[in-house]
Amino acid sequence: MPVLRSIRERFAAERPLAGIRVGACLHLTAETANLVAALSAGGAEVLLCPANPLSTQDDVVAVLAGQDQVVVRATRGDYAGDVQAVAAAGPQLLLDDGADLIAAVQAAGGTPVGAMEETATGMVLLRRMAAAGRLGFPVLAVNEAQTERSLNDRHGLGQSALDGILRATNLLLAGQTLVVLGYGWAGKGVAVRGRGAGAAVVVCEVDPLRALEARMEGFEVMGALAAAERGDVFVTVTGVPGVLRAEHFRRMKDGAVLANAGHFDVEIDRGALRELAVGGVREVRPLVEEFDLGDRRLHLLAEGRVVNLAAAEGHPAAVMDVSFAVQALCAEELVRQGGALPPGVHGIRPAIDREVARLKLAALGIELDELTPEQEAYRHAFEG
Ligand SMILES: NC(=O)c1ccc[n+]([C@@H]2O[C@H](COP(=O)([O-])OP(=O)(O)OC[C@H]3O[C@@H](n4cnc5c(N)ncnc54)[C@H](O)[C@@H]3O)[C@@H](O)[C@H]2O)c1
Repeated sequence: MPVLRSIRERFAAERPLAGIRVGACLHLTAETANLVAALSAGGAEVLLCPANPLSTQDDVVAVLAGQDQVVVRATRGDYAGDVQAVAAAGPQLLLDDGADLIAAVQAAGGTPVGAMEETATGMVLLRRMAAAGRLGFPVLAVNEAQTERSLNDRHGLGQSALDGILRATNLLLAGQTLVVLGYGWAGKGVAVRGRGAGAAVVVCEVDPLRALEARMEGFEVMGALAAAERGDVFVTVTGVPGVLRAEHFRRMKDGAVLANAGHFDVEIDRGALRELAVGGVREVRPLVEEFDLGDRRLHLLAEGRVVNLAAAEGHPAAVMDVSFAVQALCAEELVRQGGALPPGVHGIRPAIDREVARLKLAALGIELDELTPEQEAYRHAFEG
């Protein structure tokens, strides 16, 4: 994670977080350990708890727990208690993934200088809290950073969703028709990587602007009922339930593969698949269920759960490097501002996005041109 490493080195020299108690509710993984190392190098004391009861890597916890300036609360079976314990310790800065810690600190009347939220789901909750006047401190929407949209949602998921499908099935994508349902940040990544692997890609959308964009990119665009008859492999990536359901399953080809890359396992109606499976359901490979509809067999991957995590390894560390670099720089900024931002949800400053992009490019060994003084002057003349 070279981007985070470069920030850690600067933090070690400048100590921008000296004496700050950070509460972090994150997945306790090796990537998170690198973020904790950067925060500690900056002088912070870090209190950690898991953001999900199932995502804790015990070896990572063992290493973190032995470090100075780090306290880990990861009690098996008491996820909520861990979050409460970190909230009760009076953290001055919060890093959250799902808004559980922010909600606990708010409920306890805590007054941190600010917080950061990593997930779209958490942002929905926080915007509700802010609208109801129940958010007493500023929260930065790090998951809406441009670098996050590009690296995490598009390139991270685009690659890892296909990785999950290929690991589970050992399919050759070339020559197959790949149907991508949802052409948002994440769907675009799946569609582009699918085309790169030689698949003919069909996109299904409900938003006319995104459907048009997909068509202009050269993808076939059609309704899901028509696509159901064409596809060999289907990927839902909409965030909406029941995107593939009985009427679609009845039209699909024998042997079709169904995968979901959206956050929750609601996009493919597994209950309807079960009802249609008059010939039964059997596991034909690990993570591949075959539903025998009598005249055709359909293959559902990972029970319709998010395929890049269930059948592969989620985002590569190179993606989390960028996501956590944004977190580290936002932590520095919140402390520097010392509570100057008003309570509520705020976007991150574009300068932070640009700095992370610059560091990532530097890590890739890429140098950029700069505008000449004449070009600067010309541009400013038009900007007024
Ligand atoms: N697995 C991961 O690592 C990962 C990473 C990023 C995003 N996600 C998830 O992927 C989902 C999509 O994320 P996004 O950032 O692309 O969201 P987005 O809102 O940018 O895009 C979703 C798109 O789906 C379309 N859509 C909605 N209902 C549809 C339907 N019935 N048929 C066809 N299209 C439909 C919307 O119009 C929209 O364009 C979310 O659930 C998100 O949490 C998962």
